[in-house]
Amino acid sequence: MKISSYLCHPKDAVAAIRAKGYQAVPRLGLVTGSGLGHLADMIEDKVIIPYRDIPGFTQSGVEGHANQLVLGHIHQVPVACLQGRVHLYEGDYFPIMKQMIRTLKLLGCQTVVLTNAAGSLREEVGPGELMALTDHINLQPGNPMIGPNEPEFGKRFFSMEEAYDPIHLKTLLAVAAKIGIPLATGVYIGFSGPAFETPAEIRAAKVWGADAVGMSTVPEVLIARHCGLRVVGISSITNLAAGLSDEKLSHEGTLRVAQIAAEKLIRLLLGFVRAIADE
Ligand code: HPA
Repeated sequence: MKISSYLCHPKDAVAAIRAKGYQAVPRLGLVTGSGLGHLADMIEDKVIIPYRDIPGFTQSGVEGHANQLVLGHIHQVPVACLQGRVHLYEGDYFPIMKQMIRTLKLLGCQTVVLTNAAGSLREEVGPGELMALTDHINLQPGNPMIGPNEPEFGKRFFSMEEAYDPIHLKTLLAVAAKIGIPLATGVYIGFSGPAFETPAEIRAAKVWGADAVGMSTVPEVLIARHCGLRVVGISSITNLAAGLSDEKLSHEGTLRVAQIAAEKLIRLLLGFVRAIADE
């Protein structure tokens, strides 16, 4: 990990992106989760900037992440896609994610769509299904907003009620119903990883009200809400969580199933972007 990420301001990242000739104001940011990099295929008129060319951005070492910013349009709506992101378990996660999400904000994004691969705690929502997130439980150590507040981005104390934008969620569910994609809703619980959870942890998470489990997304949501971005969260369910089936959990399995669900997720997101373009 590059220590320099601590020293960069998102303005430096925006300047580097503008210097590459990208002058549009994206309406929507999209973050692709593990095995979901193909979501960037739906972007037209692509300008691709590798993370290594953007100050403070760092490559994920995890297989299944492309590590580039893809700028372009979906249904004429300007979008900016973070194709690949780091995880808490890779170290230095918070400053890097802050830099990435705040760069989307400074570029002009109003909304971020955060996607991830996740395990399901609900047996009726199995591998290959999609779940729109309604809320989360933060079981990851720390919080990216600990430390001196940066008032240029947001307030010291900020609300996490309605963190997953209820209006966007309604639109997403309406689009899913219209195009015939089953879309569950539920609460995401974020664990640190890199180990998958124990069956006992999953039983506890279920009592707490969690429906999906993963190792990402929660910090991104905190950073995004702090700076006033609207958030949409969608989990691609790749497995039943630990102890709920006989299947052995593996990253290879996560990537394989996420890629299958990516096609459905692309159709859903195309419909969502078309719907918000008309709002
Ligand atoms: N647990 C945590 N992260 C995951 C899982 C899981 O079961 N599946 C995909 N990512």
